[in-house]
Amino acid sequence: MASLKDYLEGKLNENELKLVRRSFDIIGDIAQIDIPDELKNKEKLIAKAIMELHKNIKVVVKKVGPTSGEERVRPVKVIAGEKRTETIHIENGVRLKVDLNKVYFSPRLGTEHLRVVEQIKNNEIVFDLFAGVGPYAIPAAKRAKKVIAIDTNPYAIKYLKENAELNKVEDKIKAYVGDCRKIVKKYKWKQKADRVIMNLPMHASEFLDVAFYVAKPNAIVHCYFFLPEEELYKGAIKKIKNAEKEFGRKTRILRKRKCGQLAPRIWRTVVDFKIY
Ligand SMILES: C[S@@+](CC[C@H](N)C(=O)[O-])C[C@H]1O[C@@H](n2cnc3c(N)ncnc32)[C@H](O)[C@@H]1O
Repeated sequence: MASLKDYLEGKLNENELKLVRRSFDIIGDIAQIDIPDELKNKEKLIAKAIMELHKNIKVVVKKVGPTSGEERVRPVKVIAGEKRTETIHIENGVRLKVDLNKVYFSPRLGTEHLRVVEQIKNNEIVFDLFAGVGPYAIPAAKRAKKVIAIDTNPYAIKYLKENAELNKVEDKIKAYVGDCRKIVKKYKWKQKADRVIMNLPMHASEFLDVAFYVAKPNAIVHCYFFLPEEELYKGAIKKIKNAEKEFGRKTRILRKRKCGQLAPRIWRTVVDFKIY
């Protein structure tokens, strides 16, 4: 298949061609692209080229702002195709309905979601503290005894519940809208979790108290951090060791790895650790 740049040759001048981004994300049948300001008046042409090249794409959206706020939503605008931002994305055999303008979702995390989910055993109770539309919680529910999924974004939980039904795991999931710290205390789930998933890299470490509160002895925590290249993984481990002292429970680091890039020299990382 011709590349987007090949396809646009003759339609854009040389300087414009240089500015076209080589890659873009595909979420369900939506292509999500970055359009530099200099190419604003060529955006429709670029979007139509994507739809010509990828016949399964029905909508092209462009990013119109940064990922922001507690809910980590990155706003987009439709620039070609059907006028919608909702789609069903298939990840590791799981169907996930999302609306790009209402919830956080990244198709780049599929491998990491699978890595965590594949560790889950059938007798586990899993707490997903920052669940989004359920890319961990839904496949986790196929394996675990029970999944507790929490998110402050009511749209995320609306989609998560719909996704539970789409994937026929609604009996295994309990989903709650709200701040995870308040929810776990409200339901008095002290020492209930065999596994805790904390995918909010910007702030997850501020919620380590919640992980310690819900973790049974020997529970495993998957905690995500954004870390600069030169700090891998010092800052993260220090926070876990501080929490160990604060909550009086020993921990053991099981694994640390990069699972994506936020910006040049800034990594999305995960530290898996055990709480005794
Ligand atoms: C980076 S997204 C990850 C979503 C999902 N786990 C995934 O992998 O796609 C973080 C999620 O945490 C939610 N969130 C932020 N602060 C929260 C809090 N205090 N309690 C519960 N959820 C929160 C946001 O609304 C967002 O959906």
